[in-house]
Amino acid sequence: MARGLACLSVLCLVVACTSPAVDPAHEGRGRITFVDSEDLSTDRQIKQLVDQWNESAGRIDQVNYVPMPTPTDAYRAQLMARAQDLAGARGDVRSQCYDVVTLDAVSTAEFAEAGYLAPLSPAEFGADRFMPAALESSTVDEELWAVPWRADVGVLYYRSDVLAAEGRGWPSTWGELEEMAATIAPEHRLNGYVGQLGQYEGLTVNALEAVWAHGGDADEFGGPGARAGVGMLARGIERGWIPRAALAYDETASLTEFMEGRALFMRNWPYARSQLEASPLKGRFGMAALPGSGALGGWNVAVSRCSAHQATARKFIAFLTGDDSQRVLLERAGYPPTLHALYREPDLNGRQPHLGVLRTAVENARNRPPSAHYDEVSRVIQRALHSALRNPASLDAELGRLDADVAKALSGR
Ligand code: GLC
Repeated sequence: MARGLACLSVLCLVVACTSPAVDPAHEGRGRITFVDSEDLSTDRQIKQLVDQWNESAGRIDQVNYVPMPTPTDAYRAQLMARAQDLAGARGDVRSQCYDVVTLDAVSTAEFAEAGYLAPLSPAEFGADRFMPAALESSTVDEELWAVPWRADVGVLYYRSDVLAAEGRGWPSTWGELEEMAATIAPEHRLNGYVGQLGQYEGLTVNALEAVWAHGGDADEFGGPGARAGVGMLARGIERGWIPRAALAYDETASLTEFMEGRALFMRNWPYARSQLEASPLKGRFGMAALPGSGALGGWNVAVSRCSAHQATARKFIAFLTGDDSQRVLLERAGYPPTLHALYREPDLNGRQPHLGVLRTAVENARNRPPSAHYDEVSRVIQRALHSALRNPASLDAELGRLDADVAKALSGR
């Protein structure tokens, strides 16, 4: 009898060890916390979406919305610190978990590889409806870790009134842009060109766009394309068609400069168009694809592994990333959709005539180098390029060192 019982318990142990661990949190429902980055939209469209969810969801599935008004690098650092703290904490910390998190397309792989996200089923979210490039940023080792929510792509804004007065169209090459920024802008007492050249992720994006347009890439900063692309930005600052103050600009600061009528050209993301439409510059600006490829940006939404209410989290993500929410975000906030069918919807194109420009820009956009170490890679690029732009005499030396530093960061050393 005793032997029989002993065998039974051994058997139980073996069964318990080998049957797949079913995390009860997977089907858990209950109140969740949703953390998102800076909401740059007019009239806080993200909050409005969350309010809409809370009004129609039952008492159980309510969402507590926590916006973090910081640029992407600082936002990533805050989320990472929190995830690390909770992973190392003793006891049940689930009530402190950020159940649903929005992640920059370039940070998603890092959070997935660190084990902070719950894997998602592609079938549950109809993954094949999303733009392949956006889906790529949510996928690691063929597993889906987040759902693409808002796409983003670098675009060019120009003062249509000024260009019309000069009988010129918007520039289709950087050479033309430089010439117009250097000659036309001063005649109209304007700065030539503003972008996001502060030492943060925006600089990596802006520099890569310039580098790509000159035939270079992120793995060949020592080559002629990077020299020409970064050299053009450095020359702009030296000669004054890019104001020196742009070395501290992020998205908001550059938009203020353009919106308040002080710049001829601006590189920014599509959300800026909605803001400009609601500003005194309405009717006096245009938006076009950048000369060369824009960087593909964007934001994905993920379920945190620490969440006790993952069923609610997934339902909420399906709502955020669904057709209706994406249409609203495009029409009211200017955020480009990640669902590719929306770009071809006749009604939406009729109401949003600039959707064609966005479609072309998104189709031609390029990804920053995907990596679980992206944050460090970008930091290395930012440090070198900001220093080169501040002091153009150091440009060759900075670029010469950069490939080795990027390779080291990519390898996680
Ligand atoms: C935008 C983009 C994001 C990018 C960031 C840089 O938010 O969507 O991908 O990293 O700008 O500032």
